[in-house]
Amino acid sequence: MNIKDLVRSNIINLKPYTSARNMYDRGILLDANENSFGSTFTGINGLQLNRYPDPHQKDLKNITGKFYSIPEENLFFGVGSDEIIDLLIRIFCEPNEDKVIIPEPTYGMYKVACDINNVETIHVLLNDNFQIDFDSIKEKYSDNVKIIFLCSPNNPTGNLLNKSDINSLCKEFKSIIIVDEAYIDFAGNSTVINEIKNYPNLVVLRTFSKAWGLAAIRLGFCCANPEITNILLKVKAPYNINSLTRYVVEKAIENCAQRDQYIKSILRERERLKNQLESLKGIEKVFESDANFLLIKCSEPKEVQQKLAEKGIIIRDRSGQPKLEGCLRISIGTEKENDLLWSEIKKILG
Ligand SMILES: Cc1ncc(COP(=O)(O)O)c(C=O)c1O
Repeated sequence: MNIKDLVRSNIINLKPYTSARNMYDRGILLDANENSFGSTFTGINGLQLNRYPDPHQKDLKNITGKFYSIPEENLFFGVGSDEIIDLLIRIFCEPNEDKVIIPEPTYGMYKVACDINNVETIHVLLNDNFQIDFDSIKEKYSDNVKIIFLCSPNNPTGNLLNKSDINSLCKEFKSIIIVDEAYIDFAGNSTVINEIKNYPNLVVLRTFSKAWGLAAIRLGFCCANPEITNILLKVKAPYNINSLTRYVVEKAIENCAQRDQYIKSILRERERLKNQLESLKGIEKVFESDANFLLIKCSEPKEVQQKLAEKGIIIRDRSGQPKLEGCLRISIGTEKENDLLWSEIKKILG
């Protein structure tokens, strides 16, 4: 399939913003109206904050590409994966004309980003196991569907989508298939990143906000074929990833053993909390989770959320989403936080 056929014509014809920094990044830099004298913050050795960051994301691609063994040409970085979601909609969907399929229940930002861009969303349901329901997608599919969003492990249901279903979707539908792997680090070796070689329409989203513990630096990336990453580079704001973020992520990758330790602790706590919650008679179901949260079902979710909030424990009510009647989502906290949650929730649901 030809990816260009899916791209909006104004984007194909777009002449991107260029700065002199696109061609020259060293020398006596008098091209970008920066402050050549220095910066008002000099607290981090070797970090030059008076200069605009690299518009090509070269360092980021190099550092992250090496770490994940992904060729640099397949990488693009955004201000969180949320920015990439928005950019992909803007690249592929003509407002008021094209459509996006979102199998629900899932992460709410896909719809919000479509709504902001005036792009119609078609809602189909995941099946009773929260897996892809091909028939309902086929039924709603039309040539105007430019993107299908998938989330694996899915937020808020917590489960991985079947890889074979993702592959079949990429094969069968001539749309961009976005697989959001924000929680994949908690799911063992289940990524579909390797499939980008096989499917030119597959885009896999990743984030540093979860297992890496770096939600504040706002860094996400996607892996896709170079046709797509090159269009993303063309459409992004010139210097979207700031130098502080770039600095932090390099240090974080050097410290990846800490990420592995966090994953281990979170998985241990997930198991412990799951076992505890399953013992409560007021909880109808604790869903299996491949993520850093648990979804539970009970009869009075709003009341449970409210009572926990009164004790200073904040969880997320998801009961308004399709197929999630009675459901609450609980992020896995530290051992101490989970103990506190446990001591309060058992009073309510025990
Ligand atoms: C499925 C999913 N994708 C993406 C994001 C946002 O990630 P980022 O912080 O990289 O924008 C979230 C945040 O909760 C999420 O749940």
